[in-house]
Amino acid sequence: MLPLRMTLSGAIGIRAGLRRDSITLDFSEIPDDAVSVAICGDNGTGKSTILNLGMVPWREPPHIGDIYAQFGHEGRRELAFEHGGEEYRSVITYKQTAKSKKTTAVLYVEYGGGGYSDPESVPYKMLDGTESDGKTSTYDACLEELLGPQSLYYLAAFRHQGIAPLAGHSDPKSLMRDLLALEEPERLSAQAKAVARVRLLRALEALAPP
Ligand SMILES: Nc1ncnc2c1ncn2[C@@H]1O[C@H](COP(=O)(O)OP(=O)(O)OP(=O)(O)O)[C@@H](O)[C@H]1O
Ligand SMILES: [Mg+2]
Repeated sequence: MLPLRMTLSGAIGIRAGLRRDSITLDFSEIPDDAVSVAICGDNGTGKSTILNLGMVPWREPPHIGDIYAQFGHEGRRELAFEHGGEEYRSVITYKQTAKSKKTTAVLYVEYGGGGYSDPESVPYKMLDGTESDGKTSTYDACLEELLGPQSLYYLAAFRHQGIAPLAGHSDPKSLMRDLLALEEPERLSAQAKAVARVRLLRALEALAPP
């Protein structure tokens, strides 16, 4: 998932940090040969808000708590990104009053954005026919089909301040053990050993009763 362009509107972090309602960044302006890219700004100017809310398509990024607490009455997150050589665009809106909270979210596939024609946005359609129709459930399913599970994304590709160090793993070996479920064969092996021990003891007792 490579972010291309983002627009974030109604985010409290941008209002507080930059005194504006909306911010648009075009990452495709970054030179292709750039190795590391930094977002610079004084404390509290909105850098984390851009990373957390602007540069990921997930509806509820895991480490920021209640997503509605990040916006005023209305908020909007739009992100164009590239994945597997194709271009996609996510549009998420949040609305809240004292009585209600509502999220809409659509994942689009962008066709023909190569400069020779106007891009055409078509809602993402899953292999089973489910289409991204604005509902949060279809959005989450479409995004997971495209990018894989959100938890794996945050573990593998997006670490930043405040997130648990590799989800609580102190070293890469223990992380790999967890990802590859290596505990399971170890557990089965211990269980098999215990069963074999009981059988051997019984066989021994049958040969030489106590
Ligand atoms: N959900 C929120 N509710 C209230 N204020 C917020 C919220 N999110 C961010 N802010 C405020 O908005 C401003 C921008 O926050 P943000 O964390 O994005 O800044 P930052 O540039 O990452 O700062 P730092 O350099 O300290 O990490 C800060 O003043 C912060 O206190
Ligand atoms: Mg920050």
